[in-house]
Amino acid sequence: MTSFDFDRQITRLGSHSVKWDGLASRFGAHAVGALPMWVADMEFEAPPVVNDALRAAVEHGVHGYYGDPSDYLAAIKGWMQRRHGWSIEESWILTTAGIVNGVNLAIQAFCRPGDGVILQQPIYHPFAPAVRNNGCHVVGNLLAYRDGRYEMDLDGLANAVDAKTRMLILCSPHNPAGRVWTKAELEALANFCMERDILIVSDEIHHDLVFDGPHTVMADISPEIAAHTITFTSSSKTFNLAGGHTGNAIISDPSLRRRFQRQMERCGMMASNRFGYLMATAAYAGGDEWLDALLVYLKGNRDFIDRQVAERLPGVTSVKLDATYLSWLDFSGTGMEDAEIIRRFEHDAKVICNHGASFGPGGARFMRLNFACPRAMVEDAMDRIAGAFSDLQ
Ligand SMILES: Cc1ncc(COP(=O)(O)O)c(C=O)c1O
Repeated sequence: MTSFDFDRQITRLGSHSVKWDGLASRFGAHAVGALPMWVADMEFEAPPVVNDALRAAVEHGVHGYYGDPSDYLAAIKGWMQRRHGWSIEESWILTTAGIVNGVNLAIQAFCRPGDGVILQQPIYHPFAPAVRNNGCHVVGNLLAYRDGRYEMDLDGLANAVDAKTRMLILCSPHNPAGRVWTKAELEALANFCMERDILIVSDEIHHDLVFDGPHTVMADISPEIAAHTITFTSSSKTFNLAGGHTGNAIISDPSLRRRFQRQMERCGMMASNRFGYLMATAAYAGGDEWLDALLVYLKGNRDFIDRQVAERLPGVTSVKLDATYLSWLDFSGTGMEDAEIIRRFEHDAKVICNHGASFGPGGARFMRLNFACPRAMVEDAMDRIAGAFSDLQ
């Protein structure tokens, strides 16, 4: 029993939650009333320190422009040092309107239309549109999937790149499939990129949600790699603050930082959301205990799902997650096609997950299930899914 109650079920329907209130528009009328276990936010209240900070702001009652970010920057610096052993300078931190915004800005700042951007697929779905919307093309390279585990395929990558390949968007830990990349894997990838002058955009938004690590910060491996890397982190996944749309671009190299900042200026991004700053400051300064308790709870959910899949869903593999609260369920062993798998989830089980195919090549016949919710909701979902696939047994 922890002092934080992750078992408490909180009604979110009617609270402008995309996960609950966006079901019909995203999945169709049949999804109304189903269990939403898709988009990556949690069913839990934010840490008390965050809600206290918001309450104090509401009590004060004036919500004008934010200024003097010294405690905010110090909180981020302290967190990176404490939780990741990563020594950063406050001057390296730029604030974006979330990480998808930051990744788009990075493409705009460092690529020209016609350039190639590497994605190791299957991968977080908004990256490919970010590349294409900015006039670039995806240089896709499948992760190797062997015995239920993903590996990078640098040989495949060597064949995929050309002189126009300008950038790699790394997802570390990887979403989907929750893979924590080892230091050796990251180093090999970084060397590959540096040899070809390919800029590394390292999205480490899931770096605090690690069960089996350690997580290695790409830019912390060596000064040479840091000079070639833009790192994105955020309090949003870690502390369930995604609606705040506030992220960190951490760039140690002055010329890369200046270029990124120039692009922010061109977009008029001179200041960010007051509430985002307040929430991030409170979370990074005082959210350690809450996060430690959360990780224990999430690990329990992860292990429960793995057991349930093994016992009740023959032919289905739950990919062993090192990190993230997003189960990656492989239905390829059932012999079913996507349409049938999705029909059984959404119409029979009434459980809404992200469709694997939306993560690009390599994603078909997988479902991504968000288990950052009370255990009772996970139990309900697993009963429903096992019922919808009972003919497998
Ligand atoms: C890898 C990855 N990057 C970025 C995001 C979204 O970040 P933001 O909401 O700050 O744009 C997510 C959300 O799930 C994610 O998984």
